[in-house]
Amino acid sequence: MPAIQLAENVFWVGVKDPKLAVFDIVMKTDHGTTYNAYVIKGRTKTAVIDTVKAEFSDEFFANLGEIIDVADIDYLVVNHNEPDHSGGMIRLLEQAPKAEIICSMAGIPFVKNTLNREAKITGVKDNHTLDLGGKSLHFKVMPYMHWPDTLMEFLPEDKILFSNDGFAAHYSFESLWADEATIDLDHEFWYYYDAIMRPFTGYMRRNLPKLNEFDVQMIAPSHGPIFRRNARKWLDKYVDWAADRTDEKNQVMVVFASNYGNTRRLADVFIDQLKADGLNVVAINAEACDLEKVRDEIEMSRAILFGTPTFAGDAVKPIWDVVGVLHSVYTQGKKAAVFGSYGWGGEGTKLVADRLAGMKLKVYPDAFRVRLVPSDDDLAEARDHAAKVSEFIRSAD
Ligand code: FEO
Repeated sequence: MPAIQLAENVFWVGVKDPKLAVFDIVMKTDHGTTYNAYVIKGRTKTAVIDTVKAEFSDEFFANLGEIIDVADIDYLVVNHNEPDHSGGMIRLLEQAPKAEIICSMAGIPFVKNTLNREAKITGVKDNHTLDLGGKSLHFKVMPYMHWPDTLMEFLPEDKILFSNDGFAAHYSFESLWADEATIDLDHEFWYYYDAIMRPFTGYMRRNLPKLNEFDVQMIAPSHGPIFRRNARKWLDKYVDWAADRTDEKNQVMVVFASNYGNTRRLADVFIDQLKADGLNVVAINAEACDLEKVRDEIEMSRAILFGTPTFAGDAVKPIWDVVGVLHSVYTQGKKAAVFGSYGWGGEGTKLVADRLAGMKLKVYPDAFRVRLVPSDDDLAEARDHAAKVSEFIRSAD
C-alpha cells in the first residue's frame, strides 16, 4: 500500500499484515495488524518514526522511497525496540549513513543489542525537542507502554501524537482512518488494551498525565488505524481503564481450592477475620471460576489470599490457573498470603508464596499450614494468624 499523507509533509509509510493470526505468541489477531511508520519532512531535517517487521522491509522501503531519498534521513526515532517496529532499522542505517537514532535512555541498550554495530544514538528524556525546521517533535518517555523503552512524541505544528504501541488496535483493512473502520473499533481498541497494556496500568497512571499538555487532534499509533477525529475520546479511555480502584473498593480476594473441605475451613476463618476488620471480601472457589472475572477482581483487590492443598508435592492446578493470570493485570505491590491443608509434605503453600514473591507481590512471610483436618486448636491458631494477615493488609506499607 502506498504512502498516505496525514498532514503537509507528514506521511504514513507503514505496511499492512492482514493475515497475522497471532501477535506476540499469545494474542489472537482475527483482523491482522499493521506496522505503522511515519515520515516528517521539515525544512531542514527529515525524521522517520519507527520501521516495520523485518519481513515487510521491501514494502516499507518502497513506501519510504515514494516520499524521500532514504539517504537524506537525518533522524530515525525508535519509539520502542520490539522487532515489529525495529525490524528495518539496520537496513535503514545502511542506506542512510548520516541518520542519528533517537530513542529513550532505556532504549539505548535495546538498540545497541539489536544493531550489534556502531551507530549514532541519542537517548532523550521528557521534554526533549527535535527541531526539523517548521516542524518539531516533543518527546515524552512512557515506560511500559509497551516496554521499558517506550517513547511517544507530539508534533505541535500538526497536533499529531505519535503514540507507538499506545492507543493502538490490531486491525488491518482497506483504509487507514479509524472513522472508516468496518468493525466495532471500540471493541478492538479495548481488546488490544486488555492484552497489551493492562498488565502495566500502574505505570500508565504515572505516564498518561504527561500527555495532558498537548492539544492532541490526531493519534498516530504503531498498529492499526489512525484517529483523526475525537482524539480525546480515545485518550480518555486509557485514563479510565487504567484508574486505580483498589482504595474505593477496600477489597480482598480469597481464592481457594478444597477437595475434602479442610482448606475450605481455613478459608472461612480468614474470610471471617477480614470481614470483621472491615474489609470487603470476594471469595472465589478456584475450581469453578471464570478467569476473566477473576482478572477483574484481582485488579480491584488490594490483597489476594490463596488457599491451596498440596497434592503430589505441588499446589493444585486450579490455584496455579489463577496464579497464571496474575501477570495479565497490574499486581506489583499488592499484598498476598497463602494457607492450606496438606497430607504429607505440604510444599504447595511455599511454592505459591515463592511464585507470588517472584512476581513482586508483598507476601506475608509465613504460609499457614495444617495437616489434614483442622482441630479446634488449629482453628484457633488460624484465627490468630488471620488477624496478623489482616493487620498486614491494612497497614500502610
Ligand atoms: Fe508493537 Fe510492543 O510492539
